[in-house]
Amino acid sequence: MSWALLLALCALLLLAVQLLRFLRGDGDLTLLWAEWRGRRPEWELTDMVVWVTGASSGIGEELAYQLSKLGVSLVLSARRENELERVKRRCLEISNLKGKDILVLPLDLTDTSSHEVATKAVLQEFGRGQVFFNSLRTELATYPGITVSNICPGPVQTNIVKNSLTEEVTKYVGNDGDQSHKMATSRCVRLMLISMANDLQEVWISHQPFLLVTYLWQYMPTLAFWISGKLGKKRMKNFKSGVDADSSYFKFFKKKHD
Ligand SMILES: NC(=O)c1ccc[n+]([C@@H]2O[C@H](COP(=O)([O-])OP(=O)(O)OC[C@H]3O[C@@H](n4cnc5c(N)ncnc54)[C@H](OP(=O)(O)O)[C@@H]3O)[C@@H](O)[C@H]2O)c1
Repeated sequence: MSWALLLALCALLLLAVQLLRFLRGDGDLTLLWAEWRGRRPEWELTDMVVWVTGASSGIGEELAYQLSKLGVSLVLSARRENELERVKRRCLEISNLKGKDILVLPLDLTDTSSHEVATKAVLQEFGRGQVFFNSLRTELATYPGITVSNICPGPVQTNIVKNSLTEEVTKYVGNDGDQSHKMATSRCVRLMLISMANDLQEVWISHQPFLLVTYLWQYMPTLAFWISGKLGKKRMKNFKSGVDADSSYFKFFKKKHD
């Protein structure tokens, strides 16, 4: 066998492996590589203070639980203080953290005038914090040691649908229906921690076919716009009739997670 043929076969094999990884994946290929060969959150994310916004529900709540198990000190923010206290209690139950390691800091993020006071409260409590502001990506280039992680999840099993507003802002959808076609929150958060441990600057987290659509948005936006236009009407119809936007036509991808 000639060297050229051998090289071509190797290239084909590599391509086939990458395609298989992609089809089976629930994150972009860099993230999945980091999960396999990269630094572990258990080694990297210790001795930190993490401020979790949206900590009273869904992804933020699960993030608080997984970080607390790693021994990370936490600031928990959202609007509902009683829910934050519930999350704090649970964190204390499942971790070795002490009460002083978790600050409950109720905050309405839309009230920008409260941000400075809240930041001061965090600095006063812990003296530091790891906060990520995507809007500062370029400006931070001259500050080594600060990484901006842009986390892009696909559909995740949380309360987001139930909490979504309807045409009347005082009303919520209230019924999130069957969520089993979505990624388990614990898996999403695990991948987020891996991205943090490996300083990944942008990660896409989702099952197929949502992952494929994310790739399309990046590499073939015209096709992605066309697909989104076709599906958009159906999604809005579902949503307005009080069911999850994607549940009806993604039933055949349905899996049970966790
Ligand atoms: N779940 C998904 O499929 C999915 C996919 C892609 C992106 N995301 C994004 O991930 C983030 C978390 O979503 P989730 O799915 O975890 O939703 P969720 O379960 O509804 O949680 C939303 C959290 O945000 C808090 N929140 C809402 N408005 C707030 C405000 N004005 N100020 C402070 N906190 C506020 C809520 O708490 P309070 O009501 O107590 O304030 C709650 O803790 C969202 O930005 C969402 O857009 C979610």
